[in-house]
Amino acid sequence: MAPHDDSTAKVAEETMVAETVSKPISTVVIIIAMQTEALPLVTKFNLVEDPNSVFPKGVPWVRYYGTYKDLNINIIWPGKDPASGVDSVGTVSASLVTYASIQALQPDLIINAGTAGGFKGKGAGIGDVYVASDVAFHDRRIPIPDEVFPALPSDYHLTVQVFDLYGVFAKRAFSTPNLLKELNLKVGKLSTGDSLDMSPIDEKSIIANDATVKDMEGAAVAYVTDLLSVPTIFVKAVTDIVDGDKPTAEEFLQNLIAVTAALDQAVTRVVDFVNGNALFQS
Ligand code: ADE
Repeated sequence: MAPHDDSTAKVAEETMVAETVSKPISTVVIIIAMQTEALPLVTKFNLVEDPNSVFPKGVPWVRYYGTYKDLNINIIWPGKDPASGVDSVGTVSASLVTYASIQALQPDLIINAGTAGGFKGKGAGIGDVYVASDVAFHDRRIPIPDEVFPALPSDYHLTVQVFDLYGVFAKRAFSTPNLLKELNLKVGKLSTGDSLDMSPIDEKSIIANDATVKDMEGAAVAYVTDLLSVPTIFVKAVTDIVDGDKPTAEEFLQNLIAVTAALDQAVTRVVDFVNGNALFQS
């Protein structure tokens, strides 16, 4: 990911891209929040659950692993929340498993795959699969006005001004033009928040982020992979139309199984492409 206007980070990204181009991809981590989305891929890649977890004792996180073609594939599912028994969706679990997976497995590439809400006003339809060009948060609003801190020293003043930008985080995803050309996937901006529904204030931020798809993990994964310089691809399949007239939860559940098939097919095509191709060359 590259911050929008930061030349130092851009140089770092270009260095990383150059290294990635020259280094073949061998270990891939696929982070998927829902078991329903993950299990068909576990079968497809012929993976097995790790009996000796690489993760700390007591966490619900699950690793499925195996060799597929020339790649070591790991599917990481954050597991069931111990208190409620549902899939551990959302940004907190996503960032934790991303960090722990990088520490334990040192992947060459991370793929964050999952379902998303899509905006028909931006061209999204049910079952469309997007690769994110950009990621941002829409529910980390920190609008601290400068005037609140009139007595602070001038260098602190600068820090305060960018709290809002820190919250939104907006980054470009790694550019993968040859993959996009070959696989003919849709490309759009992804906005992440911890809610399935959309409040009017979230909607304003999502519009400001210019998002086509909305999920609950992408930017959290990006935050960690950006810190640790791991190239990441976001693959998001549309289960519900956010700017449509159907209730989100109902439409999401109605389409989950069928759209998961489209998602898993797209992830398989991405993995097949990664196997034996220079991913980041144009
Ligand atoms: N995943 C699937 N649909 C979603 C939505 N509308 N918002 C956030 N995450 C989603």
